[in-house]
Amino acid sequence: MTVVGPFGVSVRDQAMEADVQAGLAAVEAGLAEATKSDVPFMTEAARHLARAGGKRFRPLLLLLASQFGDPHAPGVVPSAVVVELTHLATLYHDDIMDQAEIRRGVPSANARWNNSVAVLTGDFLFARASTIVADLGPAAVRIQAEAFERLVTGQILETAGPREGEDPIAHHLDVLAGKTGSLIAVAGRMGALMSGAPDSMVSVLAQYGERIGIAFQLADDVLDIVSDGGESGKTPGTDLREGVATLPVLRLREMAAKGGSPEDLALCALLEGDLTDDGRHAEALAAMRAHPALRAAQRDALSFAEQARRTLAPLPAGPAKSALAELCDAVADRTA
Ligand code: IPE
Ligand code: IPE
Ligand code: MG
Ligand code: MG
Repeated sequence: MTVVGPFGVSVRDQAMEADVQAGLAAVEAGLAEATKSDVPFMTEAARHLARAGGKRFRPLLLLLASQFGDPHAPGVVPSAVVVELTHLATLYHDDIMDQAEIRRGVPSANARWNNSVAVLTGDFLFARASTIVADLGPAAVRIQAEAFERLVTGQILETAGPREGEDPIAHHLDVLAGKTGSLIAVAGRMGALMSGAPDSMVSVLAQYGERIGIAFQLADDVLDIVSDGGESGKTPGTDLREGVATLPVLRLREMAAKGGSPEDLALCALLEGDLTDDGRHAEALAAMRAHPALRAAQRDALSFAEQARRTLAPLPAGPAKSALAELCDAVADRTA
């Protein structure tokens, strides 16, 4: 048994392990090529985060999905490069919106240079992803475009907040399906589609990607509170500081509304206030870490991971199905 990829999924089948290792190496080469520009500063900015690390979760998932057809089919690796480039582009933009200073353990592009450089680099990466996807045909272009529309709409809905009378938790889960599930669904869909897997499997793997994607983001939101920043390569408590109400906060508000203690109400008030002050921020973070609402959000992440696992049921048994099932555990308990 070997652990494959920076995200770490164990693979018990030698042929599949070789395919996935070779696929990930080819994706790295594809990313290096796709981030190269004739303008040296563009290359430097584009490679800044690509080289800094990252788990390559989406390429790994795509390569595992390609095992349901021919994993050596020509569109498999390029589509994994497209998905990772698109993800990378969103990280440049996301760090501007979240005013995040650290990404993948290095200064974010907006912190290292400025917001303009970060916007333009994200756009450059998206353009490069578009060039590659153009060679994969109109169906692939449409999949990519529709997912990107869902992704940015998810981000807009997060900014806009729930409508009057809308359940904030239902709204939040819709946001996560859009901003994160959509692209991880593309990884499942493209891996299956490009490998020539049957349509029924393409749909299953897309749905699996969407669900594990929501679990992945829920785990990320928990990590924002529990992590010390070392493994995640990001600054802990960024969501709290930016006033982004993620599920742990929404679960706290729900508990407070259903007859919470005076401490719960005080914590809600603290979270509503200005957390750009370091002392108030540290106090809020410590209180959230100790609160049962955090455990509730962890259970929600596990429940989406479990739903993702159940989605796999119609697929033929084998090492790829086992690895995808194992990925569900890895996502829900991840520490980075
Ligand atoms: C971060 O994604 C943004 C989210 C959707 C949570 P990842 O956690 O996949 O980031 P990298 O690629 O490993 O840096
Ligand atoms: C980012 O969500 C989602 C996308 C990039 C589409 P977050 O804001 O939670 O991601 P991190 O925590 O900064 O990686
Ligand atoms: Mg962010
Ligand atoms: Mg986050």
